[in-house]
Formats: sequence, C-alpha cells, structure tokens
Amino acid sequence: MSMIVFRYLHFLGITFWIGTAVAVAVAASAPTPWESGIAQALRKVTVRVTTPSMLVAFVGGFGMLIPNFAETYAKQGWMHTKLVLLLALAGATGVLTGKLRRWAEGQDVKAKTFVRLALVISTLAILIVTLAVFRPF
Ligand code: HEM
Repeated sequence: MSMIVFRYLHFLGITFWIGTAVAVAVAASAPTPWESGIAQALRKVTVRVTTPSMLVAFVGGFGMLIPNFAETYAKQGWMHTKLVLLLALAGATGVLTGKLRRWAEGQDVKAKTFVRLALVISTLAILIVTLAVFRPF
C-alpha cells in the first residue's frame, strides 16, 4: 500500500477512535440508570466503532512508521514521545471499554470515572496531535 493510503487510514481511524471515545465517555458520565439501556448502547459504539477505528489508525500509523523508521523516525524525539503517549491513549481507551462492559453487565461504575477518562483521552489526543504537527524536538 502506498504512503498516501496509510496516511488516509491513519486520519480516518484517529477521527472515529478519538471522536467516539470522548463522546461515549461524556455520555456515560451522565447520571443514567443501568436499566435505561444506555450502558449497552454505548458499549455497542465502543465495540463496533471505537476499537475497530483504533486498529485502522494503528495500521495507517505503523504502515508509515515501519518502512521509514531507521532513516527518519528513529532520530526524531517527537516521534518517540508520541509513541509513548499513544500507548497511554490506547490504554485509556481499553480502560473505557472495560468500564463500559462492566456497567453494561450491571456492575456499579462511578460517573466520575467516565469524566476523568474523557479528560485523559482528550488531553492525550491534543498532546499527540501537537507533537505530530509542530515536531518541536
Ligand atoms: C499506532 C499509533 C501511531 C503510529 C505508529 C503513528 C505514526 C505516524 C507516522 C509515521 C506519521 C507520519 C509522519 C510524517 O508525515 O512524517 C504520523 C502522522 C500523524 N499522526 Fe500518527 N501515529 C500513531 C497514532 C496517532 C494518534 C493516536 C494521533 C492523534 C491523536 C496521531 C496523529 C498524527 C497526526 C496529526 C499526523 C500528521 C502530522 C503531519 O503530517 O503534520 N497519530 N503518525
């Protein structure tokens, strides 16, 4: 696949990954009873859209990274920092899907947990995009 296709997949994946993760976390933070079915509906979004989009973003990102790693990205500090931050972002997404699964199964998950996750995911996304665009070091 050509670089432009990987780039296209990268941005498409990021858009729906971050977009749905933040939207789901904000919606889940509203004080809604489990019986309303909202937990199950939000979980469906994470399973059908958020996680597959994350994988598409990864395919696009690694498709650009791997062939150019040795001669380009290995020497760039911003890319190393970005890779560390996106591990944290993928981890936070995993925590979100896990908490939603528990809530959808009827377990008690505090609304505050989802507020925190929305903030963490947004902040990490802002830092990663800033690093990727401005490449300060
Ligand atoms: C598996 C994870 C990821 C890998 C391996 C990866 C790798 C890459 C690579 C190799 C580029 C091309 C840089 C260039 O044009 O020289 C890139 C561009 C970019 N990435 Fe990622 N990335 C990942 C995740 C993310 C995430 C999670 C975000 C945002 C939240 C992001 C935002 C961007 C942006 C905005 C650019 C475009 C920079 C520009 O052209 O100015 N990436 N990424």
